[in-house]
Order: sequence, then C-alpha cells, then structure tokens
Amino acid sequence: MSLRTGQLSPHLHAYLLAHTSPADPVLRELADETARLFPAVAGLQIGHEQGVFMTLLARIAGARNAVEVGTFTGYSAICLARGLAAGGRLLCCDISEEWTAVARRYWRRAGLDDRIELRLGPAIGTLRALPPGPSLDLAFIDADKPGYVGYWDEIVPRLRPGGIVLADNTLFHGRVIDPADTDASVQGIRDFNDHVLADDRVELVLLPVGDGLTLARKK
Ligand SMILES: C[S@@+](CC[C@H](N)C(=O)[O-])C[C@H]1O[C@@H](n2cnc3c(N)ncnc32)[C@H](O)[C@@H]1O
Repeated sequence: MSLRTGQLSPHLHAYLLAHTSPADPVLRELADETARLFPAVAGLQIGHEQGVFMTLLARIAGARNAVEVGTFTGYSAICLARGLAAGGRLLCCDISEEWTAVARRYWRRAGLDDRIELRLGPAIGTLRALPPGPSLDLAFIDADKPGYVGYWDEIVPRLRPGGIVLADNTLFHGRVIDPADTDASVQGIRDFNDHVLADDRVELVLLPVGDGLTLARKK
C-alpha cells in the first residue's frame, strides 16, 4: 500500500514521477477505477514508482516463480507478472472476492491472466499448502501487518538461494519509531522488521520507497 514515496515534497515527487518510465493505459485505468470504486481504501494500492521498481527487479532477477500476499485490485500483481521471465507464474493470495474481481478483469486486459493464479482465503493457509522445497524466485508481502512474520516464516524456506522477498509498508508512515503508538499493525511491522533483521538466512535493506520497502535476498 501507499501511493507515493514518503519524505518527498509534492514537487520533488512530481519530478521523480516525470523521470520514471510512465504507466501504460491499463495501469492508469486500474488506478483510476480503484479510486472511483473504493475511494476510502484506494491508498492500499502501491504507487507508480514502486510498481516500476518491482517490474525491473523481477526482470533483473530473472524471476519465474513468484507469490504475492495481498493483491487488492491487482496493480502490484500486474507489475510483478510483467517482470517475470517467459513461462513465469505468479500466485496471488487474498481474502476479498470483491476487490480481486477488479484484479481479474485488469489481468485479462493486460494479457496476463494465463500467468497469474488467484487463491482466495487466508494467505497463511495458501502458503502452508505450497510444496515445502525451495522453488520460489520472488515473493511480495503486502497483506495484514500482524501476519507478516508468519508469511515470512512460510516463504523463506520455499525461496531458492538468491531468491528475493519484498515486504511493503515497513516504515508504516513513520509510526514504527513512535513508542507511544501501540496500534496492532504498527506493532506487526516492528515485529517483522526485528524478525527479519535477526534472520541470518538473508541479507536485506529497508528502502525508503513508497511507505518503506524491505528487500531481502536469500543467501
Ligand atoms: C495493502 S492491500 C494490497 C495492495 C496490493 N498489493 C496493490 O498494490 O494493489 C492488502 C490486501 O491484503 C488482503 N488481506 C488482508 N488480510 C489477508 C489475509 N489474512 N490473507 C490474505 N489476504 C489478506 C486484503 O484483502 C487486501 O486486498
């Protein structure tokens, strides 16, 4: 979630967008329709620059087998699926029939419906049902924040060496450093950030992209 990279003035953000590969009509219309249909929660969607970053990262990594935890109306899934190598597959996990119905429409429009599979239901169950071996090249975590540690613990053993995990909202609007903030989502992100830092199976960086994007690589 989070539509634009934090810490930037609106002018500087506009400059950043003007110097990033532009969105195509499918992504633009998906963002517009999401804002029209679900105005109160449209900010759940990742921002444009983050989407471009994720496409490039998937492409640079040569990722073929990917999973997304938290799909909403499908914007980040399009960005990831577009970066996958030929024959690549993206498994999307979500619990909302309503939001993912929009996603399915746009995946068809983007010509990606043959490479994206959606599984509806709590993501922890979907992840646990995946084969236990290290077959994943890339994972993106962007669902309920108290669930992040559990998702991480299911994903990392299934990542091949060199595989990548991205986790969104890891700065949580700056609220992670306010000790008076005891919100469950904020605490979920703090727990996640501490948990992954202590995990010696990976090397990682917390990037100030969007609302904070942790990028981890399995050793
Ligand atoms: C921040 S939004 C995802 C945004 C999406 N990545 C994008 O860029 O458009 C979080 C999503 O997680 C889903 N979600 C929440 N709890 C979940 C759970 N336990 N299992 C699977 N999905 C869940 C919500 O339905 C919502 O669509």
